[in-house]
Amino acid sequence: MHNLSDLREILRYVPNYREKVFVVAADGEVVECEQFQNLLLDIALLRSLNIHVVLVHGAGHQIRRQAAEEGQAISNSDGAGVTDAYTLRLALNVSNRITHEILEGLAGADLRAACTNAVVAHPAGILRGVDMQFTGKVERIDSAYLRTLLDNGIVPVIQPLGFDGEGHTFRLNSDAVAMNVALALHAIKLVYITGRDGVERSGKLLRQLSVGEAEECLKKDREKLAPEMVSKLEHAFKACEGGVERVHIINGRTEEGLLAEVFSPSGIGTLVYVNEYQAVRQARKRDARTIQKLIEPSVKNDELLKRSRAAIEKQIADYYLFEIDGNPVGCVALHPYAEEGKAELACLSVSDAYENRGIGRKLMNFIEKVARERGYKDLFLLSTQAYNYFQQKGGFQEATPADLPPARRLQWEQSKRNSRVLLKPLQGAGVTQAPGA
Ligand SMILES: CC(C)(COP(=O)(O)OP(=O)(O)OC[C@H]1O[C@@H](n2cnc3c(N)ncnc32)[C@H](O)[C@@H]1OP(=O)(O)O)[C@@H](O)C(=O)NCCC(=O)NCCS
Repeated sequence: MHNLSDLREILRYVPNYREKVFVVAADGEVVECEQFQNLLLDIALLRSLNIHVVLVHGAGHQIRRQAAEEGQAISNSDGAGVTDAYTLRLALNVSNRITHEILEGLAGADLRAACTNAVVAHPAGILRGVDMQFTGKVERIDSAYLRTLLDNGIVPVIQPLGFDGEGHTFRLNSDAVAMNVALALHAIKLVYITGRDGVERSGKLLRQLSVGEAEECLKKDREKLAPEMVSKLEHAFKACEGGVERVHIINGRTEEGLLAEVFSPSGIGTLVYVNEYQAVRQARKRDARTIQKLIEPSVKNDELLKRSRAAIEKQIADYYLFEIDGNPVGCVALHPYAEEGKAELACLSVSDAYENRGIGRKLMNFIEKVARERGYKDLFLLSTQAYNYFQQKGGFQEATPADLPPARRLQWEQSKRNSRVLLKPLQGAGVTQAPGA
C-alpha cells in the first residue's frame, strides 16, 4: 500500500466481504515455503475484518518426499488416482503433521483454529475397471459444524482426508475438498494457493477467465496447461458453476500474495469469475462524479473530450459502467442520433489498473449489441489516439466527417481536435469482432 487512495481502494471492498466466507486452499508445498507465516498473518488480517476463513491444505508434496525417503513407491500423491494402504498411511501421517504446523502457525498469529472431521466421504469405487482402493469422493460437507466454528471466530483447518460413517478414512484431492467446502458454505471466494503464478497457457499467464472462457480453455487447450493447473482450473470452473463468485489461483511464494489478490484492483494471479459478477450496468445520476474521475486521465492526455459533471448528468442515461466487486473500473456511452439512424460510441475509458484485460472490448461489444437492438444502422466514433484499437479489436472502419450526423459534424469542426472518424455498419446479425480480437 503506497498512499491514502490505495487505502481507500482497499476499504471499499471491506463492506462487501464482511461476514462472508473465503475458502483458502494451500498446496502442501506452500505450507513449507518461507512466505507461509505471512500467509497466516494475512488470514489474521482477514479475520480482523470479520471475514470468515476456512483453510484447506494439500499434502502431495510431503507424501512424495516421505515416500522417497522411505524408498517406497506410492500409488499416487494427489488423491486423484489409486490410493493403496501404504499411501493412505503416509497421507495420514503427513497430513496430521501439516495440520499441526498450521494450527501452531495460527496460534502464533493469535487465531483460534480447529482440525475437523467435517468432510464426509465414501470410496471412489471402481472407475473404468480400476479399484481406487482408499481414494475417496466427497459425499457431503458438514456445513452446520463448520458454521458453528466460523460463528465462534474459529478457523476450521481441513485436511485432504474424508471420513465415512463407519469410521474409515479416505484420501481426497485437496482441490476437490476446497471446492466442495466453498460450495457448501456459499463462499464468495475460493483462493487456491499454489507453487505457480497462476494458470499459464503455453507459458503465458492467464489473468482473468470468465466461467465460459475457463470451460473453453479446458476443452481446447488442456495440453497447453501444466497438469496441476488443469485440476485447479477444473475445480475453479465447477466452483463458479456452483455459485462461488470468484476463484483465485495465486503463487504462495509471493509476498503479500493473498492480500494483493483479494484487495488490489489488478490482482496477481489468475481469476476465474462468474460472468454476472463483472457486469456492465447503466449509470445513475450519482455516478456522474465517478465517470468524471474515470475519464480524467484520458482527458488530460487529450484522448477524450472534457465533459462537465452537469453535461454527464444531463445525458446520464447514455452511460454504462463496468464494475468489479461493485467498483466501477470502466465506462462508455452510447449517444443516439435517432433522426439519422446512427449512434455514437463515446467516452470509452478503462482505469489504468484494469487495462489489457479485455474490459474495453467487452464495453465496446456491449455498446454494439445495444445499438443493434435499438435498430441503428451505423455505429460511429471519434478518436484521437485509439483509432487503431477500434479498427483492430472492434472491426471499425475509417470514415470521414461527412459520415457524421450534421450536428455532430459541426461539433467536430468546432472542437479543432481533428479526431479520426470511424464507423461500423450494423446490418447483419450479431456482434462482429475483428480477427484476433
Ligand atoms: C483504449 C482503452 C479503452 C482500451 O481498454 P482495455 O480494456 O485496456 O483494452 P482491451 O483489454 O479490450 O484490449 C487491449 C488490447 O488493445 C491494445 N490497445 C490498447 N490501447 C490501444 C490503442 N490506443 N491503440 C491500439 N491498440 C491499443 C492493447 O495493446 C491490447 O492489445 P493485445 O490484446 O493485442 O495485447 C483504454 O486503453 C483507455 O481507456 N484509453 C484511454 C481512453 C481512450 O482513448 N478511449 C477511446 C476514445 S472513445
